[in-house]
Amino acid sequence: MNVAVRYYTRSGNTEKLAKGIAEAIGVTAANVAVPLEERADILFLGCSYYAFDVDPNVKKYICDNKQKIEKIVCFGTSAMMKSVYKPMKKVAEEYGVEIEKEDFHCHGSFGPMHKGRPNAEDISKAQQFAKRILSQ
Ligand SMILES: Cc1cc2nc3c(=O)[nH]c(=O)nc-3n(C[C@H](O)[C@H](O)[C@H](O)COP(=O)(O)O)c2cc1C
Repeated sequence: MNVAVRYYTRSGNTEKLAKGIAEAIGVTAANVAVPLEERADILFLGCSYYAFDVDPNVKKYICDNKQKIEKIVCFGTSAMMKSVYKPMKKVAEEYGVEIEKEDFHCHGSFGPMHKGRPNAEDISKAQQFAKRILSQ
């Protein structure tokens, strides 16, 4: 099975999860500036909330790579929202890409909020999530 990890980050929070996930499953994480080289059976795609939506770069990534994505599994961080699944599902459906209904999400630091998050425990949980998804 071919598995890839991509992420979009502004302050490094989602990148921490991406790198942790990639390490746990034996691949290299890259940001969404890096297109998929080959078809991904599973693409772990990470992003955060910015003004109640995912960044346009993430939407463009799905659009540009849709022919190479079998299934998206999303993960992310945010200050208040509980999951990026809803806006990601909307984009995935718009471009005809399947999306796994389970996602991983945790708080990410934002100004004085959630200092140090994601922390080691968050990263460990993200790693367990990714391994469980791949074992299904
Ligand atoms: C411009 C901006 C807008 C944001 N809007 C939201 C928001 O609408 N809801 C939310 O829960 N968090 C919001 N946040 C907080 C980020 O989602 C949070 O800090 C996240 O962990 C950032 O991840 P990153 O470092 O990977 O970019 C916002 C942060 C920024 C900088």
